Amino acid sequence: MTLLAVEDLTVDLPAADRAVRLVDGATFRLRAGESLGVVGESGSGKTMTALALMGLQPPLARVGGSIRFEGRELVGLDEDAMRRIRGDRIAMIFQEPMTALNPLVRVGAQVAEPLVLHRGMSRRAAGAEAARLLAHVRLADPERAARAYPFELSGGERQRAMIAMAIGCSPRLVIADEPTTALDVTVQARILALLDGLRAESGMALILVSHDLAVVAGHCDRVAVMYGGLILESGPTDVVLRRSRNPYTRALLEARPEPGAPRGARLKTIPGSPPHHRDVGPGCPFAGRCALTLDVCRSARPPAIAFAAGHVSRCFRAAELEDAA
Ligand SMILES: Nc1ncnc2c1ncn2[C@@H]1O[C@H](COP(=O)(O)OP(=O)(O)OP(=O)(O)O)[C@@H](O)[C@H]1O
Ligand SMILES: [Mg+2]
Repeated sequence: MTLLAVEDLTVDLPAADRAVRLVDGATFRLRAGESLGVVGESGSGKTMTALALMGLQPPLARVGGSIRFEGRELVGLDEDAMRRIRGDRIAMIFQEPMTALNPLVRVGAQVAEPLVLHRGMSRRAAGAEAARLLAHVRLADPERAARAYPFELSGGERQRAMIAMAIGCSPRLVIADEPTTALDVTVQARILALLDGLRAESGMALILVSHDLAVVAGHCDRVAVMYGGLILESGPTDVVLRRSRNPYTRALLEARPEPGAPRGARLKTIPGSPPHHRDVGPGCPFAGRCALTLDVCRSARPPAIAFAAGHVSRCFRAAELEDAA
């Protein structure tokens, strides 16, 4: 069953002279229980896409296109209705829990809050449920965590608390925006395993935003590769990673450190740097940095070309890039 169908999603932000398009025609679907990885370099529009799904885009931004969630259109939904969905049916986990958690409120009370708000629980019942949730995300000492203020927990513990807060109302979709970037590798692996486990047991769908292709490869059924506000390639993870038909995805794959490379070894990087969003012209945002650039790439947006198994690439040369990755 399709849980989420995003069609031609745009996010425009007014600037001095004209509107700037931060997300340009994002299209993807998610079934119940599925996980979608959204990858791309900094500034590609990953967070803006995630925020738009939650109705949390910047105040002046205009969202266009369609976001159908559980059969309901979210674009244009009034704030009251959106608030009832947010934190209940769709929940978000942020990169740095320290900024998402209230520093002055005990962790247990914060985890309890959505239960009071959306489930109409009494504070007391919600407090008991919060303790259960903190144990469920395998915090070593859930009672201590419930009584603690956010700064008294480690980074990994805070992220577990954020996850407990996100799953309290049994959301059907969890959006995790770089949930582990601030954590060291071991803690990162444990948090990702926790999310995998929760998804398996509850059937929730997951959108995992990351700039790390290895994280997405290990944890997501499908992947969307973003650049300059466009989803340049999407499809089943193994197809996109092993038979990419997009030069940007291929460049990202090549920029990965070699397996087994010594720590601190230099990453290969993609030559050039991502365009500032104001500089994205009428063509493909990767034109110029791409070794395969044609004249047309500079003058027109690449069309979305569909291949087998739901594999889509936005590239004028997608058909040429056959199985050669
Ligand atoms: N509040 C805002 N107001 C104006 N522009 C913004 C705002 N937030 C982000 N942008 C711009 O929108 C574009 C997309 O940003 P976004 O935060 O979605 O990127 P991202 O892919 O999440 O990057 P990162 O990997 O660094 O988190 C960028 O050009 C950014 O400068
Ligand atoms: Mg971001």
